[in-house]
Amino acid sequence: AIERTFSIVKPDAVAKNVIGQIYARFESAGLKIVASKMVHLSKEKAEGFYAEHKERPFFNDLVAFMTSGPVMVQVLEGENAIKANREIMGATNPAEAARGTLRADFANSIDENAVHGSDAPESAAREISYFFSDEEICARTR
Ligand code: CMP
Repeated sequence: AIERTFSIVKPDAVAKNVIGQIYARFESAGLKIVASKMVHLSKEKAEGFYAEHKERPFFNDLVAFMTSGPVMVQVLEGENAIKANREIMGATNPAEAARGTLRADFANSIDENAVHGSDAPESAAREISYFFSDEEICARTR
């Protein structure tokens, strides 16, 4: 089925100047960018986004990293977009990420791992609406 998923190009990848290379991977895999913007997250915005990780030991470092510089946030649309994007990204820990995946090619560590992608339909819907209004998401009919 055609799905939408939410994606972030994290501050490490923006700083490496590889936004375009990452977008090219999405497009080559058949995923369409239907919404996109650059934002510098506030502490509150980052904490809210990662609320499910609040009790994890890495939470404070995660929020500090995600607010350390601008990110690109985007909505990707395509056949099985959620799973397709997770395959493009590779494992959370770049040391375990398969060759040719975004994390293998662009991530430094599990903390600075280049990209985020929704893990399920429910989180995709929540994450998309956390950053984008309906009007900001464009139908791609051609
Ligand atoms: P992300 O998909 O953005 O969701 C939470 C982030 O926490 C994750 O990517 C990692 O970058 C970061 N993180 C740091 N340590 C861990 C860990 N032990 N397990 C999962 N995520 C971690």
